[in-house]
Amino acid sequence: MFIVVERAVLAYVRSKFGFLVGDGIMAPGGSISNMYGMMLARHKMFPGAKTGGVASVGRPLVAFTSKESHYSIAKGANWLGLGLDNVVCVETDDRGRMVPAELERAMTECKAAGQIPFFVNATAGSTVMGAFDPIDELAAVCARHGVWLHVDACWGGSFIMSEKHKHHLKARPDLKLQQCLSFSNLPFRAPSSPTR
Ligand SMILES: Cc1ncc(COP(=O)(O)O)c(C=O)c1O
Repeated sequence: MFIVVERAVLAYVRSKFGFLVGDGIMAPGGSISNMYGMMLARHKMFPGAKTGGVASVGRPLVAFTSKESHYSIAKGANWLGLGLDNVVCVETDDRGRMVPAELERAMTECKAAGQIPFFVNATAGSTVMGAFDPIDELAAVCARHGVWLHVDACWGGSFIMSEKHKHHLKARPDLKLQQCLSFSNLPFRAPSSPTR
């Protein structure tokens, strides 16, 4: 019975975010949800790492996230054996949003250094400033570099339920979050925060 309910809930949440196809998993929190996103990105690019380990890739895998993002991205890099040194914290603007041109620059530098960009985390509702990264612009950078885009919507994902606030999560009016390949959402978090 639980699995039936779980599937229905996940399908509903996916549809709200514009994911017409896909899958989902119930997780005990945001950190592990973000780590699932990182894991998917690694598996998509290097399925052999499942059996051979990350060392089999031969070069460092690098994850990108904004300076304002949650520390669970660094935690995931540690847990997956990627190393904290391989998390690049990209510059933000005065409202705490990742700057796409800075992501582009950081990825280009990473490649020039012989490393492999494999994962970008955009934050939809950052923990301290409540910043929403520009998902569509970051998606364009990721597409150019062939890198997985995950959205940490742990805090701001619930805005999708609000007619007034859901525009924060839209890349374009018709696309919503579709441009990312994975997202995490904690439905209880923002509704329990004070707001006006
Ligand atoms: C934006 C964001 N992502 C991820 C997390 C991590 O969630 P958890 O504490 O459930 O692991 C938090 C927690 O505050 C958060 O604000």
